[in-house]
Amino acid sequence: MKKVLVTGGAGFIGSNYVHYHSEKYPEDKLYVLDKLTYAGNLPNIQTLVDAGKVVFVKGDIADLEFVQELFKAEKFDTVINFAAETHVDRSIIDPGIFVETNIVGTHNLLLASRENNVSRYHQVSTDEVYGDLGDSGEGFFTEDTPLAPNPPYAAAKASADLLVRSYYETYKFPVTISRCSNNYGPYQFPEKLVPFFFKLANEGKPLPVYGDGKNVRDWLYVVDHCKAIDLVVQSKNYGEVYNIGGHNEKSNIEIAHLILKFLGQDETLITFVEDRKAHDRRYAIDPTKIGKDLGWQPGVKFEDGIKMTFEWYKNNQAWVDEIKNRVLVGDEKTGRQPNG
Ligand code: NAD
Ligand code: DAU
Repeated sequence: MKKVLVTGGAGFIGSNYVHYHSEKYPEDKLYVLDKLTYAGNLPNIQTLVDAGKVVFVKGDIADLEFVQELFKAEKFDTVINFAAETHVDRSIIDPGIFVETNIVGTHNLLLASRENNVSRYHQVSTDEVYGDLGDSGEGFFTEDTPLAPNPPYAAAKASADLLVRSYYETYKFPVTISRCSNNYGPYQFPEKLVPFFFKLANEGKPLPVYGDGKNVRDWLYVVDHCKAIDLVVQSKNYGEVYNIGGHNEKSNIEIAHLILKFLGQDETLITFVEDRKAHDRRYAIDPTKIGKDLGWQPGVKFEDGIKMTFEWYKNNQAWVDEIKNRVLVGDEKTGRQPNG
């Protein structure tokens, strides 16, 4: 039995991971530490909390005193850090909180982990730290690609990665880092492309496509990401970085068309709007290393995963309605009211 702390476990990927871990390792004692920001949603894991399979702790990873007290009291074996401010558009409007949570918060977790002899620390990072592959359609991010983050979100995640790396180089602390491409699946807050456009299309509202819509992202079903993280955490490959991605490159306009087709909505809903600042043109992951070292392969084909995801949002309207009242960044920009 291990005591495993999952930070950010009430968010999109964290809650999917908590469900996955709880099922795969029922003998572990699972803790979720989450600040429950606008993006955190306790109902995502409520069934597990109610069943006594997860202990939920509300708190802020950027609060060092609180983090140190928790770690001293609970003596975790493993820490997996999902907690972060994650939306690029928000980081352009208000970068400060990204520095607090993503950089200071990560360092607080590293500090408390080391003070309390945590035997395994894993940092959930992102392909955005590598920057932009540009317009040629060629090349992939490998683990050796230099870090060149563009928006403040990506810069804060890259800074956190460097702190994690420093704990291995300096103290030989048992850390790993994974850098995944764009995830899709259940429980994603509807300010991110897939659930945001799904919600708008469902309501017959315009889909605001940034720029020319030809920016490319490399899409992976969220449970495949969770499986990859598990393999990395189980490994003893301390100090290593693993890229995670499934070779599923799609332009934003392709995603918009898929949603409209699924919902039987008219393509005239596509509306080109002003481009995002520092908008990276293309992300694409080379996952060779994690395949070779740990045998990871994506299990869900994009065509199946995206259909399951659309079905989930269609069938879980109550979940969407519950969080719809929180102000979305897109709504702030367009001046629409949350329920408008
Ligand atoms: P999310 O925004 O859905 O969830 C983040 C969670 O962290 C929320 O539950 C929130 O309440 C919590 N949180 C935020 N600030 C906190 C703080 N100061 N203290 C404690 N908890 C706090 O994010 P997500 O999309 O699930 O991403 C999870 C992780 O995966 C992030 O580190 C992100 O950088 C990384 N990532 C995301 C993607 C993606 O496509 N979504 C891809 C690669 C990597
Ligand atoms: O690559 C991994 C990253 O993927 C994660 O680290 C981030 O946490 C996650 O938010 C995501 O970042 P993106 O910026 O790629 O995701 P987002 O859903 O915000 O946007 C996806 C693409 O869609 C991007 O090119 C911008 C575009 N877009 C987005 C929104 C919200 C639009 O055209 N219109 C929109 O309204």
